[in-house]
Amino acid sequence: MSEIIEPLSQAVLPGLQRLQKLCFTETWSEKVWLSQLSSSRTRIWGPGDPMLGYALFSTVLDEAELLQIAIDPAAQGQGLGAELLCWAMQALAAEGIVRLMLEVRASNDTAIRLYQRLGFELDGVRKNYYAAGDGREDALLMSVVISP
Ligand SMILES: CC(C)(COP(=O)(O)OP(=O)(O)OC[C@H]1O[C@@H](n2cnc3c(N)ncnc32)[C@H](O)[C@@H]1OP(=O)(O)O)[C@@H](O)C(=O)NCCC(=O)NCCS
Repeated sequence: MSEIIEPLSQAVLPGLQRLQKLCFTETWSEKVWLSQLSSSRTRIWGPGDPMLGYALFSTVLDEAELLQIAIDPAAQGQGLGAELLCWAMQALAAEGIVRLMLEVRASNDTAIRLYQRLGFELDGVRKNYYAAGDGREDALLMSVVISP
């Protein structure tokens, strides 16, 4: 799959909200979305037309954190998540980011496989970090060194 990946803006907020609702159990209010999208530290890219996915990052100096990546369930499993994350890592490296970090639910096999394939390594585990049904689940902390 090869889509045109571009910076996304507030203009596509309804599409971002739709995808977040499809892909995550917890969604953000419009206020949180607008605060993310207006921050100079936020980077968000995706195939915007049609809106098939997004990857959202927060940057601080030469480090970045992947806050969310989501691909429309109808387009999952066709390589788009890998293409988007790979593209974003190159864009972050081009602006001087050298380390990319993330947290992921220990049960999210698809995402973990994607991150490992792109070079992320396990840094540690936050025990019982996420709510999961009636219980809790661990967060895996992963990172990768990136370069242009
Ligand atoms: C995680 C996510 C972004 C991956 O996007 P995607 O476009 O489906 O991923 P790709 O097609 O690029 O595949 C990436 C890897 O996951 C594997 N994969 C894809 N769909 C899978 C599925 N349903 N079950 C198991 N593995 C799967 C692929 O085989 C590939 O691994 P491989 O390279 O070893 O074959 C997407 O599944 C998603 O939006 N999930 C819901 C939101 C989420 O959990 N985001 C991550 C936490 S923020």
